[in-house]
Amino acid sequence: MGVTVAVHSSKGGTGKTCIATNIAALLSYKGYNVCLLDMDLKGPSLSALFNLYPKRWFNDYLDDKCDIENIFIDLSPQLKTKGRFIIGSSNPDIVAVRKIFDVNRNWQAKALKLLLDAKKSIFMNGTDILILDTGAGIEFESVNAIAVADLVLSVIIPNKISYFSTEQIVKGVYMMLEKKCYLIENMSSVYNLSENKEILGIPVIVSIPCICDILSNDCTNPVSLTNPNHIFTQSIKKICSTIEEYMYDK
Ligand SMILES: Nc1ncnc2c1ncn2[C@@H]1O[C@H](COP(=O)(O)OP(=O)(O)OP(=O)(O)O)[C@@H](O)[C@H]1O
Ligand SMILES: [Mg+2]
Repeated sequence: MGVTVAVHSSKGGTGKTCIATNIAALLSYKGYNVCLLDMDLKGPSLSALFNLYPKRWFNDYLDDKCDIENIFIDLSPQLKTKGRFIIGSSNPDIVAVRKIFDVNRNWQAKALKLLLDAKKSIFMNGTDILILDTGAGIEFESVNAIAVADLVLSVIIPNKISYFSTEQIVKGVYMMLEKKCYLIENMSSVYNLSENKEILGIPVIVSIPCICDILSNDCTNPVSLTNPNHIFTQSIKKICSTIEEYMYDK
């Protein structure tokens, strides 16, 4: 069985999608078979980022309209990665997004079961690493993603609000679910690849500075593939090494 990584944060706009995408791209470039799944059903990003027009969305799978294999688009030929890089997108159409806000508890519980089934099938089909790009906070779909993950990477912005809300999530979700967790400090005023630092008792893998060209980066060509020497890529490499270490220790 491969490893499942949820990229999460307490607040929105911390850089989850940007980091998840670049981790997925770099790991597949290194030769791992990677599946990146858009679990941000209330604010999907991946189809827009990569200009994807899938015939089936993750929403269709959750509505029992297709198998999980039907939602994936293989970006390996386009990005020329050694390993397979497949993306499953959630539907960004406003009607589909509104529908997710209205689902009841039974639907949410069934969605968790379907996610577990999807995970099994994804790994049976040769995926080594499943990366879940989640929405912020404690929406049911984010908590489901954390629940099925082996490893949670929580992206924190160095400000009071982010620290406070992350502390709540650490205590109320990650610890409750007994998750192995790391922090990624993003949009920091410092660049720190090596310092052994902890925030809220959780190890920080890296402090990534605020970088203007990342803000406007077109993820169709993730910077981790196009610019190996970029400091953002160096940070992504450090995060990938942490995931690899976890995989081999597992
Ligand atoms: N270190 C950084 N420096 C500058 N810009 C960054 C950095 N990291 C991410 N960004 C940019 O910040 C914006 C928000 O990032 P992203 O969409 O990945 O956040 P998110 O946490 O996924 O948001 P949401 O909660 O809405 O899903 C994007 O334009 C992204 O390119
Ligand atoms: Mg996002």
